[in-house]
Amino acid sequence: MKSSPIKLSMTDKQARDYGASIPFDRRLYRQDIEGSIAHARMLAKQEIIAGGEAAVIIKGLDSIRKEIERGRFQFRTELEDIHMNIEARLFEKIGETAGKLHTARSRNDQMALDLRLFVKEEILKTVDKIRALQAVLVELAGANKDVIMPGYTHLQQAQPVLLAHHLLAYFEMFQRDKERFHDCLGRTDVMPLGSGALGGVPYHIDREFVAQELGFSKVSTNSLDAVSDRDFIIEYEAAAAITIMHLSRLAEELVLWSSNEFGFIKIGEAFTTGSSIMPQKKNPDVAELARGKTGRVYGHLMGMLTIMKSLPLAYNRDMQEDKEGLFDTVDTLQASLAVSAGMIKTIKINAGRIAQAMKTDYVLATDLADYLVKKGLPFRRAHGVVARLSEYAMSKGKSFRELGRKEYREFSPLFAGDVYDITLASSVVARNVAGGTSPQQVAKALRRARRLTKK
Ligand code: ARG
Repeated sequence: MKSSPIKLSMTDKQARDYGASIPFDRRLYRQDIEGSIAHARMLAKQEIIAGGEAAVIIKGLDSIRKEIERGRFQFRTELEDIHMNIEARLFEKIGETAGKLHTARSRNDQMALDLRLFVKEEILKTVDKIRALQAVLVELAGANKDVIMPGYTHLQQAQPVLLAHHLLAYFEMFQRDKERFHDCLGRTDVMPLGSGALGGVPYHIDREFVAQELGFSKVSTNSLDAVSDRDFIIEYEAAAAITIMHLSRLAEELVLWSSNEFGFIKIGEAFTTGSSIMPQKKNPDVAELARGKTGRVYGHLMGMLTIMKSLPLAYNRDMQEDKEGLFDTVDTLQASLAVSAGMIKTIKINAGRIAQAMKTDYVLATDLADYLVKKGLPFRRAHGVVARLSEYAMSKGKSFRELGRKEYREFSPLFAGDVYDITLASSVVARNVAGGTSPQQVAKALRRARRLTKK
């Protein structure tokens, strides 16, 4: 077997190991081979290489792909990266013709291409996982659409809201996340090949053809920028950071709600762990991990921004550091979304405990103030009256409902018998504004959410 003429300069073993990206960039083998096949086709079409040569190259690349997929490919650190590993193997398989593949190409535009192909695919997978998580939230909301829960501000009971409304708030966050990934897709969908090392290539190539072969909708417009731009990775990581931030907020609520103190929900056994010492425990580990993994996703975004900061044009080897963080971001985010969806599917809502949490009905204080406003009192005055009334009720250990007519009237003569019509249900029904928590609005929101999460 002939060995390839590829010579990479670092002869010091430690330096070579230090510079090798093959331990991680081998993950891009499929994109690298796809890109090379499209490039070879274009070279033949443009008569830069012969049609027969391209055919041999493509056949060789196909068989290398199979070798890799069957685990029969020997990755070699001394060949530095995925591009060189594949090219060297191609040389072993087809001889000198292999050397023609890299005509009119540089590893700089080749790597930019591989990464863009990879990120494009992963954006679609990520968006689909967000959609699946949304669908689970919508299902849980729909199955419990009559449940009224305390809405919180400062983690203090504030006003009653429908549980479905609360869950659909997360639907909205994830909807924006999907939009962010779609935006990012538009800027990732740019074909960089033809930029060469940095200034373009001195051959009569057809970049549009390569773009079409690989499913890109446009080609890059500045070769220096194309080989040194990693914005699309930063954008993926930024969108990922925002998405997992949303997921961590949801996760935190699930942790809280599944605690003994709240008891609003029960997470299925398959998604909780016991303790080796405390037999009563059902720990919400999946939610905790989804919350905790936010740290590494943020970290990769900061890492990538820092790698790119102040880099002079065009390619610099620093940029090889773009991959591990990207891969980990992709894996961490997608796994977090998928496992969270699985976990949320097992959640049982404990409506009794939720009602219990509002037994003292102080969450209706705003409604009492609004009641006085409707009877003619300016809101600020009404607020003061109900503040004093609440303090009184609390000191007596009574709920609003338990206060007598006389007690009410001591705080305002405007209180009449219909004050007892104020209930949790009347409170949510009253908030019938667009985007509000009334059952009518929430039913509408549910219909919209179902439509948007359909496959
Ligand atoms: N392994 C390199 C990277 O990941 C590929 C490009 C290498 N280009 C170069 N001129 N050394 O960035």
